[in-house]
Amino acid sequence: MGGDGFNIDPWSSTQSTDYSRIIEQFGLSNLNNLSIPQPSHLHRRGIVFAHRDLDLVLDAQKMGDSFGVLTGLMPSGRMHLGHSMVIEQVKWFQNLGGDVTIAVADLESQATRGVSLDKGREIALSEYVANYAALGLNPEKTNVYFQSTRSEVQRLGFQLGTRTNLSEFESIYGFKGETNLAHIQAPMVQVGDILHPQTEEFGGLRPVVVPVGVDQDPHLRLTRGIASKSNWFNIKANSGPGILIGLSVQDENAELLGQQPNGRIDKNKVANIFGMIVENLVELGFSDINSNPKQGTVVVPSATKKDMNAIRMKLLHLERRLGGMGLLAPSSTYHHFAVGLTGDKMSSSKPKTTIFLDDDITTITKKIKKAYSGGQSTIEDHRRLGGNPDVDVAYQYMMYFFEHDDDYLAEINSAYRNGKILAGEMKQICIDKATEWMTNHAELRAQTAHLVTDFLAEDSR
Ligand code: TRP
Repeated sequence: MGGDGFNIDPWSSTQSTDYSRIIEQFGLSNLNNLSIPQPSHLHRRGIVFAHRDLDLVLDAQKMGDSFGVLTGLMPSGRMHLGHSMVIEQVKWFQNLGGDVTIAVADLESQATRGVSLDKGREIALSEYVANYAALGLNPEKTNVYFQSTRSEVQRLGFQLGTRTNLSEFESIYGFKGETNLAHIQAPMVQVGDILHPQTEEFGGLRPVVVPVGVDQDPHLRLTRGIASKSNWFNIKANSGPGILIGLSVQDENAELLGQQPNGRIDKNKVANIFGMIVENLVELGFSDINSNPKQGTVVVPSATKKDMNAIRMKLLHLERRLGGMGLLAPSSTYHHFAVGLTGDKMSSSKPKTTIFLDDDITTITKKIKKAYSGGQSTIEDHRRLGGNPDVDVAYQYMMYFFEHDDDYLAEINSAYRNGKILAGEMKQICIDKATEWMTNHAELRAQTAHLVTDFLAEDSR
């Protein structure tokens, strides 16, 4: 459990929306502090609200360096509007130049939802990938794969198991003695999903960002912890000025780092390693480097926090040349959840709470008419007191999904607040917009249906 008993369960059907508490307790960073290039409506409206190390990815983008985007889908039900938010973000990263990998979590779906692999494949293609194509992902720059058939993912997930243990799983996920073991393996497979795009075979070392709903953050915490525990070189702020680099001696590198089995130190090996560290720092342009092999540290007094990423990348490359995995902790972004139509959580197992991407217009109209409203109970009260767009589902869906014009949105927001627009009118505005959006989407799905297989990676066709 988290510090005061608060926990996020990625498999739960309930979901905390206390976002400031989540930011604080789990150490997410607020998105406001970054400057986002070509922000999408999700950024402009604060829907994407938090991140971990997104600056790494944005810096790479600015420098024209490569970066990856990875996300995953659980093929268990129909794709609904809520699922489209991650894809909007993926599309945004793709437009900025990121290469995109999408995991079909068929193993996870089988383990946690009882969906067979065949069924999982069918759902993934007809429900998800078909809609990704319609939502505008570029098939040339997207690779969809299945957990069950990508051995690199499973291999990594297994091998990295040495970097965690049951206590950590208990504290992150609240797992207990009776927890099914497949359920315990699922997060390790997801660790493999998240880290494998960095392997040489799948694109090599580069920042990889994982856009997800905040329910998936436990997996990111686990993965980031595992990646840093596997690193051979630790990089942190020095207690004096500058950056301090230390060695992380582990079974697999002990000999290379000069730790002999008899406990003695091989000074030549140590000197050699420290020589390589210094050489790499010189290549980055640093000249004042205090290398202290005896203490096992290198200090770069003139390096600032800003230099940390460059130093880290350089040393991860060095680690790889020396035979280590050289894994960079993944970056991530998080979005708020759109409220369910009923005012509760949106869920694919409760059709009344959401709009599926292939719902017909009659169904959508009915659903929006019945939606939870932020209006007053009588027209007189509403005119006098005004409505509350913050809880009004019709308004919220305009903001999250259907209306891309910020000025118009601001206009109806204030007209609702001061009672000029009635709750029924807000619903009608939403129905009209939703009809337009969904009709267009259905057309696009028909037009792009032939592209579905183009999204599949070579190993997944
Ligand atoms: N666990 C995710 C879900 O329940 C699916 C998933 C699998 C995923 N692997 C991933 C998400 C990697 C993000 C990154 O929807």
